[in-house]
Amino acid sequence: MTRTLDVSRDLYTTAQRYIAGGVSSDARRTAGVPLYVDRASGARLWDVDGNTYLDYVLGQGPALLGHCPPAVVEAVSAQVARGIVYSAQHAAEARVAERLCAMVPSAERVRFNTVGSEAAHAAWRLARGFTGRPKILKFEGHYHGWLDPVLYSVHPSLDDAGPQDHPRPVPGTAGQPPAADLVICPWNDLDALARIMDEHAGQIAAVVTEPVLCNTGAIEPDPGYLQAVRELCDRHGSLLIFDEIITGFRLAPGGAQEYLGVSPDLSVFGKAMAGGMQVSALAGRAAVMDAISSGRVAHAGTFNSQPVGIAAAEATLRILDEQREEVYGTLYARGRQLMTGLREAAAKAGVPMLVDGPGPVFQTYFTDAPAVRDYRDFARTDRAMMGRLHAALLDRGVNMVPRGLWFLSTAHTEADVAATVDVFEDALRSLPLG
Ligand SMILES: Cc1ncc(COP(=O)(O)O)c(C=O)c1O
Repeated sequence: MTRTLDVSRDLYTTAQRYIAGGVSSDARRTAGVPLYVDRASGARLWDVDGNTYLDYVLGQGPALLGHCPPAVVEAVSAQVARGIVYSAQHAAEARVAERLCAMVPSAERVRFNTVGSEAAHAAWRLARGFTGRPKILKFEGHYHGWLDPVLYSVHPSLDDAGPQDHPRPVPGTAGQPPAADLVICPWNDLDALARIMDEHAGQIAAVVTEPVLCNTGAIEPDPGYLQAVRELCDRHGSLLIFDEIITGFRLAPGGAQEYLGVSPDLSVFGKAMAGGMQVSALAGRAAVMDAISSGRVAHAGTFNSQPVGIAAAEATLRILDEQREEVYGTLYARGRQLMTGLREAAAKAGVPMLVDGPGPVFQTYFTDAPAVRDYRDFARTDRAMMGRLHAALLDRGVNMVPRGLWFLSTAHTEADVAATVDVFEDALRSLPLG
């Protein structure tokens, strides 16, 4: 069941001459020929060789309503004809800000950016500027974008990572300045957090977390964990920042903070908020955001609230807000159907596999462990085998995130999911399992 990839291979050969590494983001590096997409619609992609894929990558999450949802296409097309970039205020940005503040429990003020990394950067700066404290506490295994201050201890080698209950910062790339004022902590471990916060008492501006960890598996916080993190932050006078770039608008209209019932001081959104266009947002309590309002903390960007992206966000958020029962009912139902189907397929194929996560996003792991709770557990799963499964699925027309993450959209039908389960079992059986 091997795809024909002649056109893709030729494009890749040419690309390697002109694009560093042949791809435009390190996340798109693959062992073989990368996916060359010709077009995308609903839950499907078509590549330049004419192969069709059921897509569970969805642009790394943004296409929550499927690719090219008609309302977004219409809004974007109409806006393109009225102006692509203003770098000035316009009515739609205020409407989107108002709706976002109504949907997200902790959002009283918002500032728009273009991509997630930028909004995350803005949140860290605001936390330091607001509190006057130097340090940020980040959890091992969490990803907050690819910029210098944050790209530490995402998937570090365990040889470098230090003790499990007191990890050290490990840079993610050559060329990165030293981890100034960064404190690394294991996730889902309250004792470690309490101890490490005590060690840095009076110095931590903010604790930053993916509220459901989606860059290292799809790991939900232990019951009560984030509530306790909230209390520790309050006790220490530190802000709590939720990085909702993946969870925002995906787990609930109000993101993971609604799903989990915990209110951060600041949160960042991107991906699913604009139906595939590049819009991100920093949102939070008015008292904190006032440091930006007053101009004390700088925040800027030529493309902030670019009208085409904002038109897409307006169309997307309107659907997520006004059709919330249908949208989230579908996302959770399809997610559960797929998770159950993949578990059964793995059992039939005799492969030890854990399938876990909220549903609208979840993870498959090659492991016989009953649970994965943090980065160190994740690092013990068979990630090389996951890479082989990714290739086997792609060959059979199913596109998942190579590390084993699956994103659902409202465009995935029950029949799509059932077809995916069949393909999954076939792909598992094709693997050289010990
Ligand atoms: C949790 C999280 N934060 C931040 C980012 C960075 O977003 P972007 O790639 O849009 O810069 C990502 C990207 O995957 C993410 O998953």
